Amino acid sequence: MGVKEWRVRNPSGERRVVVTKELPGERWLEILASARCRVEVCASEEILDRGEIIEVVGSKCDGAIGQLTESWDRSVFDALAAAGCRVYSNYAVGFNNVDVTAATARGIMVGNTPGVLTGATAELAAALTLAAARRVVESDSFMRRGGFRGWLPALFLGDLLAGKTLGVIGAGRIGSAYARIMVEGFRMNLLYHDIRRSETLESRIAAYCDFLRTAGERAPVCRFAADADEVLKEADVVSLHPVLDPATVHMIDARRLRLMKENAVLINASRGPLIDERALVEHLRRHEGFRAGLDVYEREPETAQGLSELANVVMVPHIGSATTWTRRGMAVLAALNVTGVLEGHPLWRGHEDVQPFLGDDPPKAVPSIVNAEELGI
Ligand code: DGY
Repeated sequence: MGVKEWRVRNPSGERRVVVTKELPGERWLEILASARCRVEVCASEEILDRGEIIEVVGSKCDGAIGQLTESWDRSVFDALAAAGCRVYSNYAVGFNNVDVTAATARGIMVGNTPGVLTGATAELAAALTLAAARRVVESDSFMRRGGFRGWLPALFLGDLLAGKTLGVIGAGRIGSAYARIMVEGFRMNLLYHDIRRSETLESRIAAYCDFLRTAGERAPVCRFAADADEVLKEADVVSLHPVLDPATVHMIDARRLRLMKENAVLINASRGPLIDERALVEHLRRHEGFRAGLDVYEREPETAQGLSELANVVMVPHIGSATTWTRRGMAVLAALNVTGVLEGHPLWRGHEDVQPFLGDDPPKAVPSIVNAEELGI
């Protein structure tokens, strides 16, 4: 292993849990310590490679918490199984960095942290939408370099969102929360696509529309699109929220970018490989009125050549879930995934409602295991 520094908490704990990054707050450590875990935490900000993870797993490791920046592949699960590990939790809701099939084959449960980051990620997608549509970052740079000489009729013209069409691809928890922010907050019409219709989303928007009509106001329109192409052709703003899997890699490629309106806004706060980033750079270069708001990148932490030189893109460093409350909550859920399995608790039946886990007296249940069904649990 390189020169990475590891800290040990509760050194006398009989169960050994490896955590590959310091996590926010103290509560998650208290949870692990009270389940008799010795917790070994990597204090370095550098990303661990699989060899380093395998080395730290060693010959005894009961549980582990890792990051979306690491590859938890077959070789790592071989090492975990040999060390007696029963549970791994990703410190994220997404788990495209984890070979879940390999974990399942070795009887290891894989946890994630849903629910707690829905609002934060949806809000960040909304922030990117506003920043891109109203050219907030370009204007900020202009101010800072002393460009502002006084109000002008055509200074930094952007696009009004009210009454325009919002396209949402992927209407799961985060996509639906984002759709509601934009429809209810900005009165955008909604055109969405997913592999299946979301009755929950449609009924909530319908209730909001009823409320507006009762108040004598115009209600937005909400429509399901049969395919992603329809959304891309018709929407003024398109935000991506599908799961990243082999079928969705480069779902936005050069062909699909060409389908979009010349001055559309494209938002991605989901996973970088959904977009062919080189094709996006080309498209942004050719169409100055087209704007993008990105939280995630195809090859993080790198970005495609030329992307950062373009004025019509807003870029932030994968901070969708980066609120203090959210990141502390994610740490609590990851710790409870580990201790719940080690203590033999049942799976949580409350589905997406993880609020009870965030209080002082969490339920005696495992919050979220993604391969429970495959493991026959
Ligand atoms: C996730 O949880 O998958 C996000 O990308 C990080 O918060």
